[in-house]
Amino acid sequence: MIRQYITDSERVVCGVLAFSTEVFCNRVPGLTPQQRDMCRASPDAMVAVGDGIRLATSECRYQFRHHRWNCTAINNPNSFGHVVIVGSREAAFTYAISSAGVTYAVTEACSRGNISACGCAPGPRPREPTPSGWKWAGCSADVNYGMRFARKFLDSREFDGDERSLMNLHNNKAGRKAVKLNLLTECKCHGVSGSCTMKTCWKSLPPFRTIGDSLMKKYYRARPVTSTYTTTKSDKKSEKKLQLVLKKGKMPIKKPPKKSELVFLQMSPNYCEKDLAAGSLGTVGRICNRTSEGSDGCDLMCCGRGYNTHQYTRKWQCNCKFLWCCKVECKECSERTEEYTCK
Ligand SMILES: *[C@@H]1O[C@H](CO)[C@@H](O)[C@H](O)[C@H]1NC(C)=O
Ligand SMILES: *[C@@H]1O[C@H](CO)[C@@H](O)[C@H](O)[C@H]1NC(C)=O
Ligand SMILES: *[C@@H]1O[C@H](CO)[C@@H](O)[C@H](O)[C@H]1NC(C)=O
Repeated sequence: MIRQYITDSERVVCGVLAFSTEVFCNRVPGLTPQQRDMCRASPDAMVAVGDGIRLATSECRYQFRHHRWNCTAINNPNSFGHVVIVGSREAAFTYAISSAGVTYAVTEACSRGNISACGCAPGPRPREPTPSGWKWAGCSADVNYGMRFARKFLDSREFDGDERSLMNLHNNKAGRKAVKLNLLTECKCHGVSGSCTMKTCWKSLPPFRTIGDSLMKKYYRARPVTSTYTTTKSDKKSEKKLQLVLKKGKMPIKKPPKKSELVFLQMSPNYCEKDLAAGSLGTVGRICNRTSEGSDGCDLMCCGRGYNTHQYTRKWQCNCKFLWCCKVECKECSERTEEYTCK
């Protein structure tokens, strides 16, 4: 296990710049007081938080590249995803992917030895005895540390106690769970000439794309919710508590959403026109595909406003030959081609 301690805990090295922790944590914009405290306590984890948000942003852009809403609302690396204003399905995805990104990057940094407070985890405690010659060993991803950190860091923003905070907290949790549920089991054989009489296994992180794909499926199946006060009785005290419940049509039904599901409070705008208050930038200028019938097709993408055609010459290297030794010679091919953008 490689483990690297930050020798001078007062300094965090961020690219080529070294700030004192105090200066560094005061410079990160948009932190809540609790987030600032967490930054001071483990500045090395803050680097991973930044990586996690970047990972989430680029995955979100990839997943929504053919949609009218294309994640532009979360491209501010300083905002930690707190920008999508309406409590829509897209807001649900934004929170879930950001929380998954932070969980993932912190967990990854732990196994690389980049955070002094964490490292490898022992394998999961087996529910049943493993088949003989098979055991958990080695460096398993400490996803529980990553989840705990992401929860403390991202959930601390949601202190309002209103239904929107409940929605954000729920989607944050679904994002963290998506990382845990997608962990891979890797194994290595031991024994005489690879005979595999002994096997050791450990849990590792999948590519982040796997988690993006899984949250995208949850985005399509996201559930509409509303909030109601329920009375809980404990120790002869009765307490009123705001809770999320599923909706059927416009009626609330007395059933909470599942923990792994994404939830939203409001219907999405159609994202055709610019409406910043609703989190919509509109689709003017977006590239569309003239022959596609899907959401990237010009009809749907441009909301019936029509599109502009741009002609340009595409050039690329072709007919490459390997010359002995050691050169590659190519010809340049070109083609007139067209690109379409929404009016
Ligand atoms: C994380 O660890 C890798 C390899 O150990 C190292 O190259 C990198 O600089 C570290 N990054 C930070 C931010 O500590
Ligand atoms: C997303 O859409 C906006 C507005 O339609 C556009 O300006 C921006 O370039 C798009 N971003 C990407 C990454 O495609
Ligand atoms: C446009 O859509 C068609 C049909 O879905 C697809 O075959 C083609 O590759 C797309 N073109 C571009 C440039 O993405």
